[in-house]
Amino acid sequence: MRPPRPNEYRDAWAGELDAARVGEHVRVAGWVHRRRDHGGLVFIDLRDRSGIVQLVFHPETAPEAHALAQRLRPEHVFTASGDVVRREEGNVNPNLKTGEIELSVDAAEHLAESQTPPFPIDEDGQVDEMIRLRNRMLDLRREGMRDAMILRHTVNRAMRDFLNANDFLELETPILTRSTPEGARDFLVPARLSLGAFYALPQSPQLFKQLLMMSGYERYYQIARCFRDEDLRADRQPEFTQLDLEMSFVEEDDVIGVIEGLMARVFEETGFEAPPPPWPRLSYDEAMLRYGSDKPDTRFQLEIADLGDAVRGTEFKVFQAGTIRGFNAGPREASRAVLDELTEVAKRYGAGGLVWAFVQDDGTWRSPIAKFLSDDERGAIEQALEAKPGDLLLIVADARAATVATALGELRLEVARRYDLIPAGRHELLWTVDFPMFEFNADEQRWDALHHPFTAPLGSFEDPGALRSRAYDIVLDGTEIGGGSIRINRPEVQQQVFHALGISEQEADARFGFLLEALKYGAPPHGGLALGIDRIVAIIAGRESIRDVIAFPKTASGSDPLTGAPAAVDPEQLAEVGVRLTVPPPVSG
Ligand code: AMO
Repeated sequence: MRPPRPNEYRDAWAGELDAARVGEHVRVAGWVHRRRDHGGLVFIDLRDRSGIVQLVFHPETAPEAHALAQRLRPEHVFTASGDVVRREEGNVNPNLKTGEIELSVDAAEHLAESQTPPFPIDEDGQVDEMIRLRNRMLDLRREGMRDAMILRHTVNRAMRDFLNANDFLELETPILTRSTPEGARDFLVPARLSLGAFYALPQSPQLFKQLLMMSGYERYYQIARCFRDEDLRADRQPEFTQLDLEMSFVEEDDVIGVIEGLMARVFEETGFEAPPPPWPRLSYDEAMLRYGSDKPDTRFQLEIADLGDAVRGTEFKVFQAGTIRGFNAGPREASRAVLDELTEVAKRYGAGGLVWAFVQDDGTWRSPIAKFLSDDERGAIEQALEAKPGDLLLIVADARAATVATALGELRLEVARRYDLIPAGRHELLWTVDFPMFEFNADEQRWDALHHPFTAPLGSFEDPGALRSRAYDIVLDGTEIGGGSIRINRPEVQQQVFHALGISEQEADARFGFLLEALKYGAPPHGGLALGIDRIVAIIAGRESIRDVIAFPKTASGSDPLTGAPAAVDPEQLAEVGVRLTVPPPVSG
């Protein structure tokens, strides 16, 4: 950090003082991080944003400051001045940038008191997450959160620097708008000036960025807040942040090239060791077949293989299902209880069950199904899975290929977790490409867009299931960190997609009339992508949940324990916006 502008409070950052400054007289300001009273001397670690410096208060040379130091308690705020002196040999702390020096205080001033915090700020120990969130202002003082916030800034800055240097324009789009179909429920805002009408918060700036391309502002970006009312998980928040971008007169390779350059810059600036681009591209079909996921984690092997040929014509009923695939989990010990748990995983993802088999030294199988298979069939399976004695084979069969893929994909992850198969410090990036345009929604008996309905299709509409799209996702360590596509730039194609999705012309006009209209006035070929900044920062920071890299996140139930949001509002406020509740308002907590 640059030195602060000297004022009454400070002229130096605590965390930046080091042996080079010995002999200087400086002033620092911050919080009492830790305090040790040695009877005579009092030691206080003062903390500011930059870090920590040790202050020593001498009763003889600075009695007033020393008296104050005796009253200071953790998290009190104060300013102090003194000489930077070298610590005695035995007191040097090599883990701290300021560990070789201390400040011999000559004057200090108390600026604010603090109650005893509900958890210690000076250590990063485990604290119940609800307590952390309720006291987020204190939690954010802790080192882990501070590092995460600074990292977040570094990621944002690297992205901005890269895009600014590559002719992108940073433009904003509305927050109060109409529904954008990204597949989640909208958050609605009642409009006081149009009673009975609602704004929707944007699920993404998708339609506006396309309009900006049609307006000629090619190469747009925005660090955009998006809002989606969906079930929350560790990597999902109801409001989250995207780096959103769009370009005109481009093809897939152009967008992918920009993102590879940008992410390489982010990794460089954050010291994250990832393989350099270009990153491999995997078709959706191949990803589903080999990894059982469109966001494969390729940091470990356990590749899935098709076993259809190996068991063709088998007498064994289960293996007569439409699709049969499996993977070699390697040389594993697994108790009956563990095998039952793995079976549960397969069932949770829709499979009827799981076939497991241990290949034994004499070539036979220890498996509940060993007796139903011929030697040839077992041999063919072993060959397909490159099995050796000691290996555990996991096999799933089902009428639906998608079920087999998903169940095995989840099992792959479970086995990797359970047996610790992900090498520490290893990171892998890849692109998933050649997505299907639509997927069949069996519950609703209709086609849904796999990406979103503005993605350019590839192929013929006669067989919607076979239609591909010009979409691409970027995957880091098995997490989808971004997605985008080349868009439709001709109105008749857009209508065709709406038609295939069962959206009538009237409905399309009502919801997206402005886009269809814009497409009639010369829309350039365009495409873009959005990166999930929260997810990227969480992975770089090595955190399990994106909540740990968001200053003020929501809980899994969408609430904010700090502010109490969402909360009941005054009946007058409701009346003003023309809203009457059909449920009793929640009792505020
Ligand atoms: P998509 O819906 O794939 O694409 O979102 C882009 C990226 O945003 C992140 N993300 C989330 N992060 C946290 N919480 C959430 N609830 C959440 N939902 C998504 C993911 C995801 O890859 N308009 C398109 C982009 C485009 O086509 O240009 C879109 O929003 O990392």
